[in-house]
Order: sequence, then C-alpha cells, then structure tokens
Amino acid sequence: MNTNQSLFDRAQITTPGGVNSPVRAFRSVGGTPRFIAKAKGAYFWDVEGKEYIDCIGSWGPMILGHAHPEVVKAVQLAAENSFSFGAPTEAEILMAEKITQLVPSIEQVRLVSSGTEATMSALRLARGFTGRDLIIKFEGCYHGHADSLLVKAGSGLLTFADQTMDLATNAPSSSGVPQDLVKHTLVLPFNDLEALQAAFKQFGPQVAALIVEPIAGNMNLVQMTPEFIKAMRDLTAHYGSVLIYDEVMTGFRVALGGAQSLHGIKPDLTCLGKVMGGGMPMAAFGGRKDIMQKLAPIGNVYQAGTLSGNPLAVAAGLTTLNLVSVPGFYDKLSNNIQTLLTGMGQLAIEAGHDFASDHVGGMFGIYFAKSKPHSLDDITKSDIEKFKRFFHAMLDEGVYLAPSAYEAGFLSIQHEGVVIERMLAATKAAFAKI
Ligand SMILES: Cc1ncc(COP(=O)(O)O)c(C=O)c1O
Repeated sequence: MNTNQSLFDRAQITTPGGVNSPVRAFRSVGGTPRFIAKAKGAYFWDVEGKEYIDCIGSWGPMILGHAHPEVVKAVQLAAENSFSFGAPTEAEILMAEKITQLVPSIEQVRLVSSGTEATMSALRLARGFTGRDLIIKFEGCYHGHADSLLVKAGSGLLTFADQTMDLATNAPSSSGVPQDLVKHTLVLPFNDLEALQAAFKQFGPQVAALIVEPIAGNMNLVQMTPEFIKAMRDLTAHYGSVLIYDEVMTGFRVALGGAQSLHGIKPDLTCLGKVMGGGMPMAAFGGRKDIMQKLAPIGNVYQAGTLSGNPLAVAAGLTTLNLVSVPGFYDKLSNNIQTLLTGMGQLAIEAGHDFASDHVGGMFGIYFAKSKPHSLDDITKSDIEKFKRFFHAMLDEGVYLAPSAYEAGFLSIQHEGVVIERMLAATKAAFAKI
C-alpha cells in the first residue's frame, strides 16, 4: 500500500522537491507532506486513509467545500461538450457579466488561467497605459511569480533620513530574476504611511502602478489601516499611477464584492483568481474600461492564452459565483469562523499561550503573539517555533492547517457545527501538547 512517505520518496525522483508548488513540501514546518486521495465538504483524506478537516481549501478556492454537487454537475455537463475550443463561448460572456456585476470597479475583464498570469498581465497593461516603468509593491505581499514581482527590499532601500531611496539596492527574492528588471520595482514596508508618502514624493511621476494585496494573506493575515488605504488611492490618483488591487486571494473570499467593497475603494485594476475558478485553473484581471481598451486585439498591449476562459473552468467558476451570491452566505461563513476563533482564544488563555487571531469573511489568521500583526516584521517576531509544534499537533488530531506561519487559512461554508466543535477539541489537545 502507498504511504505518504513512500509517495514522497517516489515523487522526488521525477519532480523537484517532490511537489508541483513549493509550500506543499512542508519545508517550513518539517515532516512528510500528506498525499491527498480525495476530498468532500470540509474534509480530505490522505492515501493512508486518515481524515483531516481541511483548513486551506486549496489555498483559497474551495469556499463551497470540496466536490460541491452543483459544481461537479456543471463541470460534467460542460465536459460532455469537449474540454476546450480556442474560440469564444457564451459562458465566457456570462462569467464576465457576473464579475462586472459583483465587482463594480471592473468595467471590463479578461479571463486568464492563473493568478500569476493575472498580475503579470495587469502590470504590463498599467505600464502600457501610463508609458512608465516603475512599480510599487509592499514587503510581505505575494503577487505570483512574475519576474518584476519577485523582489524584496534590501535593508538599505528605504533610508528616509534624507528622503532618498536607492532603487539599485533592491534584491530579487529568487535567483534567475535579472537585476535590470528589479530596478523597476520599489518595495515599501506594508502599512507604513510615511514611507508611502515619501516614495510618491520622490518617484510619483515615474510610477506606472502600485500593486497591493488589500488584505495581505501571504505573510499570514495582515490588515491595513484605513489611513493607509486612503493614501494609496489618493496618491495614485494624484500622480496618474494605476492602483491595482490584487484580489486573487481576497476576491469573493472576504466578501462578495472583495476587499475593495469593505474598503470603500475603487481600484483602477483588480486581479482575481482562486474562488472565481471554483478550484479549476482560472483567474482574471479587469477594471477601468479606458485602461482595458489598451489590450490586444484592440489595443497595443499584448496578452493571450490558449486555455483562457476554458469551458470547464468557466462552468466551475460561474456555478461557484452563483452559489456564493445567495444572500447571507458571507455572514454565515464569517460567523462560523468567529465561533472557531473565539473558542481558540479562550482555550489559549486556559492553556497559558500568547495567542491572537483575525479574520475577514472566510479567511483567517492565527498568531502565537500577544496581539494582531500590522506588518511582516510583526509576524516574524511571533513565536514561529511554537506554531510549528502546533501545526503538527493539530495534524495528529486530524486538522490540516496551512503548513507555514506565514500563510493565512481558509474555511468553507461547510465548516460549521460539528466540524467547528472537532476543531476546538483538537485545539485543546494541541495546546496541551505544545
Ligand atoms: C494575492 C495573490 N496574488 C497572486 C497569486 C498567484 O496566483 P497563482 O498561484 O494562481 O499563480 C497568489 C497565490 O497565492 C496570491 O495569493
């Protein structure tokens, strides 16, 4: 019989690190990755037959729970008419209409196959539209793995003593990313109003775009202050830079209208992914019509994709969006998570652990720290070693958390009642162990 370990050993022979996306390898928590055989609702099962409550939902998409019967049916029906045509379909129009209806800042939208493609294309479009090269991103925000976005601030980048920033000290976070590209990316600390103002003061007329995770979920969950949100909108508008909300994670996850509906902000462009594909490879970028009109075939910014708007992905995505549009969906999701986090907080007090949590809609963060974080630095200072012990203790108890202290968690609408009770019982046992 296959075991997780035997499959991991075998996978490493033909696949680098044994996985097709790095965080699946458990390297930041140690141990053997679980090889999943099947999933249903709030649960999945590994190849050894062990059951887990799934708290990552494929890193966001599975907001309805796994293998929702209506989504499965929609995909089966679409599959009977073939998998891909390379020519337009009516379903793609329905998808675009649904997105533009749910996210009013999106006047026009283009479907793509991954979040990385969405952010990469949105940046090219912003550069084409403005005729500028420089982009601003924030420390701890992940926007997929396009070259320009894999940039980390060198510690010398932001020296405000004389209000001078040196772009040349930027360092790529991955080898293989040319320094020549990195020099066009300015990385600022998240939530740092002064740094943002100073950056625009110095570079404003050169900034093509500012891209941000409006609720950060790639350094665990970290929210921005209202002042910071307002400043991003005001400064980009003032300097004619394109404000890009990367809602690949937050779109249809934190609220039906995304983080922008909670912020009361109209970005110029928005990137979507994850939930909108219902677990299939689909993503999108869209926004102001005058900007979107710059895209090929009508404009001179090129972007294309063999599988863009794939019929099976559109069937899964559209059915998912219809099901999350039911009134009360996000209130229910949010209330269930609140019950869970309040319970975990009480158990932490009883067990004597420093513990904090946060959530927005169906996305949550837990921190072994006295209070909620505001920056990457705050997360780094939390008790990461304790998180690792907690992760494994929870795994033993049948709860699969994100295998890193730097990741947010995602629950589905099917994480309710007895599922939450089981998670709390697991937490109590895990808190006692660590
Ligand atoms: C905010 C954000 N943007 C972009 C991406 C990249 O999406 P994908 O993994 O589909 O390429 C991710 C992936 O986690 C993300 O969280």
